[in-house]
Amino acid sequence: RLQYKRAVLWTHARRGDLVCRLMLHEHLDDPYPLYEHIRAHGPVYRSRAGVQAVTAHELCSQVLRGSAFARRNEEPAAGPGARTAPAASQTSAPGDVDGSGTGTGEGTAPAEGGGAAGDEPGDTSFLEAEVADHMRWRRLVAPAFRPRKIAEYRKRTEEVAHRLIDTALARGGTFDVVTDFASPLPITVISELLGITDVDVDRFAYYGLVTGRAIDGIRSARQAAEFRAAARELNAMFTNLVGKRRGEPGEDLVSELLRSQDGDQLPEQEIIGTCQLLLTAGFETTTNLVSNAVLRLLSDRSQWEALVGDPGLAPAVAEESLRFDPPVQYSIRVAREALTLGDRPVPVGTVLMLVLGAANRDPVIFPDPHRFDISRSGAGQHLAFLSGAHYCVGAPLARMETDVALSVLAERAPELHRAGPLRRRPTAALRGLLSLPVSARR
Ligand code: HEM
Repeated sequence: RLQYKRAVLWTHARRGDLVCRLMLHEHLDDPYPLYEHIRAHGPVYRSRAGVQAVTAHELCSQVLRGSAFARRNEEPAAGPGARTAPAASQTSAPGDVDGSGTGTGEGTAPAEGGGAAGDEPGDTSFLEAEVADHMRWRRLVAPAFRPRKIAEYRKRTEEVAHRLIDTALARGGTFDVVTDFASPLPITVISELLGITDVDVDRFAYYGLVTGRAIDGIRSARQAAEFRAAARELNAMFTNLVGKRRGEPGEDLVSELLRSQDGDQLPEQEIIGTCQLLLTAGFETTTNLVSNAVLRLLSDRSQWEALVGDPGLAPAVAEESLRFDPPVQYSIRVAREALTLGDRPVPVGTVLMLVLGAANRDPVIFPDPHRFDISRSGAGQHLAFLSGAHYCVGAPLARMETDVALSVLAERAPELHRAGPLRRRPTAALRGLLSLPVSARR
């Protein structure tokens, strides 16, 4: 179990440890210069936080595609975060920066073992399953993200995007890209996909925030309590929903999971866990991608105007934004066997921090990597959705939603410009905005 007190991280950070500085949120505004400092130490950087940070694209890909690394230690139990958000388990901070024992990190990383809430119902998510189960789980969930399904969801996504812009324009055209558009859009889509009828957008956005914050470590008793309460509410909501769909099946994903082939059906608790996972993974990251992309475009008017001139460029914008400013900045892996990475020996149990935000700006793969350029070729080689066995299952949905969001915004609000200071999410693992005020009128 990896656990560090904030003071320890602070001491190492003051002595120049670059990963500890990252963990202490010293570079939330712009972590990319810090990543370059880490890269300057070589492709694998040994931190006193107990992790080795990998910045080279090639080595990150090697780790992700091979089978020598697991997503977590072989410890048995995991907390509710493991079932409420994939990111919460897969990208979690290597060290608990609280160390107070107040539910420390219990929602943040399977690698950290169970926590105070580990005995709550619903712990049997696929995230703790063995590889064979994980593959079975993916087989059952994957049909929901096939091209035919995505084409069906596209229509509804367009309707919701237009409705949100209608509301913003009717209010005078000044709105918040994050709270009025980039957040309610994927929340509505994923909720409908799951068959949730009474969507409380604000409440769901709150769940996303609480889960997202937990990824960087639970830092106070209050935060631990908030996290547990959110996990409990989600669990209750989906227990209720699964019960309803059992009696009254529909076309939604829950009904489909319940209908899946005899003998290959997920146990009820896994279906509930899967729903929680898809809900929280299914909007927070997309919200961040849309917000990050809009911020970038509005900072470089010529690229915004290019999109306005040709909304068909939206997929290229999404890809370049995934590369340039990925919503998930790093992912944690643990070595199952001894091996060499680059020229470094990696003993069993070594914890790697795959810095996706740095790999996506590796100059070996991406020429002029710090330039945001929607006409770049090869942006799609980014690792924003990872690669290998845990490649983001929702990537086709995220891409479609972002395509729709950006093209509708460009068509309906061509004069869009910033109208106030932005606020960032207070997390290093998830990168995005809490607020981006804009105006659609000149
Ligand atoms: C896994 C990123 C949208 C569902 C992942 C992982 C990343 C990622 C990096 C791997 C984490 C790891 O193993 O360390 C993103 C980004 C998104 C996005 C950047 C949006 C821009 C979505 C959506 C859904 C989703 C819309 C579902 C509706 C999942 C699931 C996994 C996952 C279920 C676990 C897959 C597995 O372990 O096999 N995502 N994601 N994601 N994502 Fe996404």
